[in-house]
Amino acid sequence: MELLILLLCYFDIITDSGQRENPQGLPRRPAQLNKQGQEVTVGLNSFKVTKFGSKPVYQYDVMMRGNDIEKRIVIKKVWGSNAVTSRLGQGWIFDGNKLAWSLKKEAQEVRIDVDLDAERAERDPSKPSNDKNKYNVALRYTNAVKFEVLTAFLNGKTDWNNSCLEAINFFDHLMRQTPSSKFFQLKRSFFAQGNDRLKLGGAVEAFKGVYASLRIAYYGPGLGAGLAVNVDVANGTFWEQLPLVQVMGALTNCPGTDALARNFANSTKDWRKSAMYTQLKRLRHVRVFSTHRGVNDEYCIETILGKDVKTFEFKQNEGRPEEKTVSLQDYYRGAYKINPQPGLPIVEMTKKVGPPGKKKSVVLPVDVLRILPNQRYAFKLDEKQTSSMIKFAVSLPQDRWKGIQTGVNMLDRNKDPYLQNYGLEIGAQRTEVKARVLPTPDVTFANGSIPGTQAGQGRWRIDGKKFATPNSKPIKAWGVCVIQDPREAPDQQATAAFFKQFVSIYKAHGGQFANESPVIQPGQLNKGGEMITDIWNATGNKNQARPEILFFVLPKKDSNVYKNIKKSCEVRYGVVSQCLQARHVKTNQAQYISNVCMKVNAKLGGSTCRATSKVMAKIAPNHAKIPTMAIGIDVSHAAPGSDQGSMAAITMSLNADLTRYAAHCNTNGHRVELVTKTNILDLENYVKHWVSTTGKGALPSRVVYFRDGVSEGQYQQVITQEVADLKELFHNIDPKKQVQFTVLIGSKRHHVRFFPLGNGGDRNGNPKPGTLVETGVTHPYEFDFYLCSHAAIKGTARPMHYYCLLNEAGMSPEEIQQMLYEHCYQYARATTPVSQFPAIYYAHLASNRAVAHENRPAVSSGKKEAGVKHGQTASSSSDKTPTEIPPLMALNNQMGIRLAMWYI
Ligand SMILES: *[C@@H]1O[C@H](CO)[C@@H](O)[C@H](O)[C@H]1NC(C)=O
Ligand SMILES: *[C@@H]1O[C@H](CO)[C@@H](O)[C@H](O)[C@H]1NC(C)=O
Ligand SMILES: *[C@@H]1O[C@H](CO)[C@@H](O)[C@H](O)[C@H]1NC(C)=O
Ligand SMILES: *[C@@H]1O[C@H](CO)[C@@H](O)[C@H](O)[C@H]1NC(C)=O
Ligand SMILES: *[C@@H]1O[C@H](CO)[C@@H](O)[C@H](O)[C@H]1NC(C)=O
Repeated sequence: MELLILLLCYFDIITDSGQRENPQGLPRRPAQLNKQGQEVTVGLNSFKVTKFGSKPVYQYDVMMRGNDIEKRIVIKKVWGSNAVTSRLGQGWIFDGNKLAWSLKKEAQEVRIDVDLDAERAERDPSKPSNDKNKYNVALRYTNAVKFEVLTAFLNGKTDWNNSCLEAINFFDHLMRQTPSSKFFQLKRSFFAQGNDRLKLGGAVEAFKGVYASLRIAYYGPGLGAGLAVNVDVANGTFWEQLPLVQVMGALTNCPGTDALARNFANSTKDWRKSAMYTQLKRLRHVRVFSTHRGVNDEYCIETILGKDVKTFEFKQNEGRPEEKTVSLQDYYRGAYKINPQPGLPIVEMTKKVGPPGKKKSVVLPVDVLRILPNQRYAFKLDEKQTSSMIKFAVSLPQDRWKGIQTGVNMLDRNKDPYLQNYGLEIGAQRTEVKARVLPTPDVTFANGSIPGTQAGQGRWRIDGKKFATPNSKPIKAWGVCVIQDPREAPDQQATAAFFKQFVSIYKAHGGQFANESPVIQPGQLNKGGEMITDIWNATGNKNQARPEILFFVLPKKDSNVYKNIKKSCEVRYGVVSQCLQARHVKTNQAQYISNVCMKVNAKLGGSTCRATSKVMAKIAPNHAKIPTMAIGIDVSHAAPGSDQGSMAAITMSLNADLTRYAAHCNTNGHRVELVTKTNILDLENYVKHWVSTTGKGALPSRVVYFRDGVSEGQYQQVITQEVADLKELFHNIDPKKQVQFTVLIGSKRHHVRFFPLGNGGDRNGNPKPGTLVETGVTHPYEFDFYLCSHAAIKGTARPMHYYCLLNEAGMSPEEIQQMLYEHCYQYARATTPVSQFPAIYYAHLASNRAVAHENRPAVSSGKKEAGVKHGQTASSSSDKTPTEIPPLMALNNQMGIRLAMWYI
């Protein structure tokens, strides 16, 4: 099977207008740029490298031996030792691991003995030396960096190979050398203490900094390629530099030490299972310091103990005659004359970062500890933190550009001694390129359409518009559960008025009803799953039919309540549902109802609108005639430290105009980036459904396969695993049919932004929907491009980066780009073009929603749901990574919910 695919790519490449094949087998960049639509000039946050490689640079392998030499901090100390710096001299670049570079050529292997203790003892004779910190460093010259090969590659004279990679890698480290000594570094971002910052709550603060990375860049047909530096504003979240006891309070929502103590008293009985322990687990590996010994002692937190200074006892002077057992409290009173507060958790450290070689764990009272600066907070932010973060980080294009300039000034490349020394020069002017604004399609409804000229402004109204296709069957059995709440819940009259208006507005949009009166009844949250059973039963009994849709009116946003409702409806009953917020029901606004109608219509088998192209018939006359299936893939991972698995979401188009998609979700192992074969083969029934309906008995002729951001290193595996597995599935269904794939990676995870000039942008200075950039920040030979298909409401628009990995279907570049853009107008729940192809967008939605189907006990909201069988669940109380992630609970498919857009 794999061989077949490789052959297919190969044939595809050589038929592609006779150009030279890309070494990786990826499709070639088209010789021509897109000519559709209008030309605009776009500034990019990219700066050309104007000079490099004028001096020979020698690369060395670095080998180090000694205690703990695998630790980065030890490597850093050894490299920075007097012995090494005095032997090697100035100006070396080190990657912190195995490679170093210099303008000096050391023909012989360089061997250096380093004694960190002796060096320290020289500085501070009071501390004795021992022999555990002796190291050997060896540097062996390997080769000169082959800048000429990189240049030849950029000039199209040779293929990409390891020599090019080595040169880029060298530049990457060269560019980081000076900033990393001046600023706090997170990968390719740098943060300075004085930078813009904001407290987000929960002991977390956000900083702005600068991101910079070097890449190869295509200048345009006939203009060649070069190197460029992409500079952007970076944001980072860090632990606030607070006393540890305050941090604990913030993490556990305990204002003040007394509240913390009460919470702790309540949690010590079953400490490792307590909510408090789980909350405090985030402090693991956070670095703290104390000053009670008169010096600055640094520690790294291993765990928070369920004991306090009174109950924690240890042996003093162990093994000696004067051995005795003391409490931590007594010890601190005696040794330091301080009285740590009882009733608070105490902290165990991994190892005292101090007396060398001694690896005893240390336990300290929380009162003497403070958080050290510049430590990243790597956990998911809560809702409040996220919204503050967004306010902090989001800025309009002019402000973003100012931030980028601040970053450029902070990096101060002109004065960077390393860049000067090694002869790397970066232009001061940003790159400006000719881009296109692609022609906008008309947005077509069942009666009338929004012309492209209007839709292209980025927003349209749907009042007076009938949806492209209505619900597939007139609504008969439907029910409304109004969750009771003394303040928020709408009364009977308000609820009745809302649903009366809902019926009337949905009908105006083309919605079909066999019964205009839903069953409306109050619901009690404390009844748990039974609340849902009640409305299900009442609706079913009244109509003598299985309910088709259930509405829930929620007093406020509550993700646990929401998840429980969705889980119960989808997994237990197999019914689609629509949650509404009480305040919207009470205000009963037509526009809100229209928005709800779009979702309800999609859930019940309809579609909102269709994009009608004005140019596709010219670009690709057969486009609409070729039976096409679109597939979208999203794999997401739980936050670090979580015991949840990865989630794979696969969407598959259901109809010919790609307005409706089914979504299949399941767990996908632990941090597994590629969709597992099992998950792909699970699509069998969906594909068979497609064949029997849209395909009129046949498989599609082509599949447009959209993959959410995988790293470059995994591009090949997408083809050799995911696509190969899909081909196998198709082959099993019909061995005679050749299904041709066009595979596109769509990624938002990049730092390229568009700054259109003149009236090329919207009134905020953002790009207009349809802005396509193919040069300046793209690969010289492979086929990638940036497309901004949406209108940014706030902040600076983030274009999608699409990378074409396979084009067996032989779609022309203009056809691919136009299709990508036009489908963004078909997203069923928006009255705007969206930022990415709907297949990917829906995959994100489905992935987020499917978390509710996880096979774990219901999140506590009173009673447990009856009837749902819980299999073995990943234990959340254990610190260990679960070896097996259970699959999601299957949807109850009695009503065919698997083919409904339940996730929208
Ligand atoms: C890369 O190709 C160039 C010639 O095109 C060659 O000189 C160089 O040795 C190659 N590098 C590697 C690592 O193969
Ligand atoms: C202590 O725990 C009980 C039951 O777990 C809970 O109801 C109570 O609110 C807790 N008290 C405090 C102060 O956290
Ligand atoms: C902050 O930076 C992170 C990492 O680069 C990025 O994912 C996130 O979108 C940024 N947040 C905002 C609001 O820009
Ligand atoms: C579309 O149908 C709606 C509802 O019947 C009607 O109000 C509206 O005027 C129609 N619009 C057009 C353009 O025919
Ligand atoms: C729901 O209805 C079924 C039969 O229709 C009945 O067996 C069950 O007890 C009912 N459950 C509730 C909670 O009303």
